[in-house]
Amino acid sequence: MPERSKIAVIGAGGNVGASVALWCAVKELGDIVAIDIRKDDMLPVDGRMLDLAQCGPMERFDAEITATDDYAAIAGAEVVVVTAGLPRKPGMSRDDLIETNVKIVRSVCENVKQNAPQAIVIVVSNPLDAMVYTAWKATGFDTRRIIGQAGCLDIARFKTFIAMETGFSVEDINALLLGGHGDDMVPLPRYTNIAGIPVTQFIEEERLAEIVERTKKGGGEIVKKMGASGYLAPASGTVQMVEAIIRDKRRILPCAAYCEGEYGIEGLFVGVPCVIGKAGVEEVLEIDLTDDESKLLSESAAHVAELVEVVKKLAPDLA
Ligand code: NAI
Ligand code: 2OP
Repeated sequence: MPERSKIAVIGAGGNVGASVALWCAVKELGDIVAIDIRKDDMLPVDGRMLDLAQCGPMERFDAEITATDDYAAIAGAEVVVVTAGLPRKPGMSRDDLIETNVKIVRSVCENVKQNAPQAIVIVVSNPLDAMVYTAWKATGFDTRRIIGQAGCLDIARFKTFIAMETGFSVEDINALLLGGHGDDMVPLPRYTNIAGIPVTQFIEEERLAEIVERTKKGGGEIVKKMGASGYLAPASGTVQMVEAIIRDKRRILPCAAYCEGEYGIEGLFVGVPCVIGKAGVEEVLEIDLTDDESKLLSESAAHVAELVEVVKKLAPDLA
């Protein structure tokens, strides 16, 4: 059998996890171990993964896809993606999920620590920034090996709305976004361009401000329209990160990474531009911000800090 990377997806019976597995397979990033707990009201993980395996001959990928509830199967995984946990329903905020998801993410990560101690962990479960902290504490892994997915999705939403507004290809839109995965995230129009031309040459300031607002509430818009949390774009964002690690691409991606003084943020996982490669977060990049941009980022980080305090109250031993 060929030597392939192993990617574990925990929560793969659900929408985001199954979609992560799908794109990992289609991009031939490696073999996939899909873990979930069974529930009667959703597709069991082995059914979902068998369905995925049967795409192989048509999408032309070779991958061993294992569905199980036994964590021993994740041994040797280079990357573990954690999507286990409740998603929000209409009327709920991401923060409303914290009590249940702290317990789930904690127990999942204790299993990861035991069975794949060398892995890089990408956390997707919400509320994202607080769940990244939970994963860090529950695994005890080096901070460079604990990364949260939010920025790739949020920035993709921003780019999509700009493409819809201008009619230009999404491929030519470059943008940057900082902060937590909440409605106070900080898209940065000043660092946004279309094929190198400042976005402000195409979109009036007032209209751009509306697009920024739509981006910040992008998750909620999908929940309202679908009656459930989005999963295709979140999974696509996650797989950008998986690919950067597996192929050691050193991509610059906005991810929730541990800050040790960068942007004045100390000891918190917050969305910042990161160099992502084989070692996980290989560097946190610091860019110049105006006073207004810094203020917005501090406010977003303060919200993340509040959520981390809630985690510490719910699970004092994770403090
Ligand atoms: P889902 O309900 O479709 O799937 C969640 C899966 O987790 C279920 O299959 C469930 O059985 C499984 N699970 C629950 N407890 C588990 C445990 N202890 N061990 C293993 N598996 C367990 O939900 P969906 O839509 O896939 O969302 C998953 C999470 O991702 C939610 O918390 C959601 O809010 C979050 N999310 C985060 C995004 C981001 O950008 N960071 C974007 C979209 C969703
Ligand atoms: C999203 O932004 C709910 O975090 C999820 O779609």
